[in-house]
Amino acid sequence: MSYPYQIKSIEQYHEDYKKSIEDPEGFWSKIAENFQWRKKWDTVLNWNFTEPKVEWFAGAKLNITENCIDRHLPSMANKPAIIWEPNNPEERTRTVTYARLHKRVCQFAQVLKNNGVKKGDRVCIYMGMVPELAYAVLGCARIGAIHSVIFGGFSAQSIADRLDDASVEYIITCDGAFRGGKDIPLKSIIDDALIGNKTVKRVIVYTRTRIPVSMIKGRDVWWEDEMLHAEDQLEHNGVIDFPAEIMDAEDPLFISYTSGRTGKPKGVVHSSAGYMLWTNYTFVNVFQYKPGDVFFCTADIGWITGHSYIVYGPLSAGGTSLMFEGIPTWPDAGRFWDIIDKYKVNILYTAPTAIRSLMSYGLDPLKGKDLSSLRVLGTVGEPINEEAWHWYDEHIGKKKCPIVDTWWQTETGGILISNLAGITPAKPGWATLPMPGVQPVLVDEQGAPSISPEGEALTKGNLCISLPWPGMLRTTWGDHERCRTNYFATYENLYFTGDGALKNEEGFYRITGRVDDVLNVSGHRIGTAEVENAINMHAGVVESAVVGYPHDVKGQGIYAYVIMSQKHGDDEQSKKDILQTVTRVIGAIAKPDKIQFVTGLPKTRSGKIMRRILRKIAEGEMQNLGDTTTLLDPGVVEEIKKGKL
Ligand code: PRX
Repeated sequence: MSYPYQIKSIEQYHEDYKKSIEDPEGFWSKIAENFQWRKKWDTVLNWNFTEPKVEWFAGAKLNITENCIDRHLPSMANKPAIIWEPNNPEERTRTVTYARLHKRVCQFAQVLKNNGVKKGDRVCIYMGMVPELAYAVLGCARIGAIHSVIFGGFSAQSIADRLDDASVEYIITCDGAFRGGKDIPLKSIIDDALIGNKTVKRVIVYTRTRIPVSMIKGRDVWWEDEMLHAEDQLEHNGVIDFPAEIMDAEDPLFISYTSGRTGKPKGVVHSSAGYMLWTNYTFVNVFQYKPGDVFFCTADIGWITGHSYIVYGPLSAGGTSLMFEGIPTWPDAGRFWDIIDKYKVNILYTAPTAIRSLMSYGLDPLKGKDLSSLRVLGTVGEPINEEAWHWYDEHIGKKKCPIVDTWWQTETGGILISNLAGITPAKPGWATLPMPGVQPVLVDEQGAPSISPEGEALTKGNLCISLPWPGMLRTTWGDHERCRTNYFATYENLYFTGDGALKNEEGFYRITGRVDDVLNVSGHRIGTAEVENAINMHAGVVESAVVGYPHDVKGQGIYAYVIMSQKHGDDEQSKKDILQTVTRVIGAIAKPDKIQFVTGLPKTRSGKIMRRILRKIAEGEMQNLGDTTTLLDPGVVEEIKKGKL
């Protein structure tokens, strides 16, 4: 496999960048020639950000799994596509070659067909990190069904909301999942999510932990039985194949739910062709992937990072993707380093929160681990503080591996701003330069282009993008208007990211964090409104306000101010009850780190909560709280300050 579009020098980066902005259609159609199409496109790009409407390669026909699997078979059938490391290091590892991946994905596509799944149907996947999860994702893509993968940490209620939102008819799950010392009863959580559900017809259950599960006749079937049956059906002279559904370039490939400022999480919809190009192009260029490299992305496939950089990016490039079932600190904090040593990993892509957590264990877990195979390191999901950056550089990369700080979002499909490993310069804490095709714009609150104050080198503003790129979201499931108001209505003719950023004289970008009420906890996006709604569901809670505060490991912690009309037991018991409620409603990832009981919240006369004040107090800033004269009752601020945790 060769990548003729891989950028090899900084000069080439500048040249390609210029071409991509001046002539996006020419630039991307040339890159698209490197993929396998059933029919080429009629037009390269149709767009306007008012509706919004974005179409890349309209009229083209393809199936992404033919690009991720079939086209590699003639030359790479026996090359590892996925290397799987189980949670328990004592358990046997698995290597899935491209030939094996083809067979399993075809078999699973047949399983889906046998169970009634058709092109365009929504399939929810709620599994642990086992290779079967990748087969399930790709099996859906092969038959043209739209997958919606839900992270194993979400509660039954969150799953139920997502099933409902997309009228899901099919679920693929496991009996349970191993994660560190815990076994998570996935099927039982699905059973709870299905109470009262009217749309789901079939649940396919893969056996992983073999905990007892209830299997409902007529609805639940075992993965293993179904796969055997499909194998018998497909086997033809020793060859197994399932013809891929021919998809339009713009047919939806998947839905990924993510939190916003308001209401429930929204289903971000990605397309087939544009998403494929984007994940492949960014994978090959940002990480400077070379055929044969072992690429280890530590994310979970339940999040977009896993979709783009465990499955679609690496596989479309004929790469080897390492998939890890467990967590970085189990059985001890040397687990990542063991894995790198064991499989001679060349590229490690992880989150700053994982780096900070591992840093806190000191250097002992690194002793005796050979990390010399590493060539490139990456970070994703949140700003990286300089201390963590230098630790990663010194102790993991041994100062010889470029670190790419990749900024992107669920909505962007893949990386938008990042240095290219060893090609363009790195700067600690800075995502640096935009990818070709990406035109960032910094604007002030009114939407006017930001200008750096006289004598200052930095420009500051809200980060927007002015041109469509192939991997961008197309809509939010079932509610296009929500897509428009969330991303395209704040500033005319711009996609608004929700992030603030700085730009320096070299044109480098530094992402400063969300400017809306969205938190980033351990690299996970959580809406404050969502957490408040969950807390408010607890009996006795009158009102709550949630803000973020700096947290040494998580990046941001969740601070909740809660007014209660009545408590059942003492404060500590009530706090535990609230945490339990949040765990039930959203999942453990949204549990507040601190809960402060208050008798009132700082509100303006019109009843709006002054979050700015609450945020400052949670951050420990007691003095410069700004103007509090407009508050209905300035007295509450003093009370809140006194009770700060
Ligand atoms: O605030 C930015 C932050 O994570 C948000 C996107 O979260 P999510 O959709 O869950 O996607 C995570 C995987 C890409 C962004 O709006 N973010 C992501 N990467 C970075 C970052 N902040 C700073 N630096 C980054 N490299």
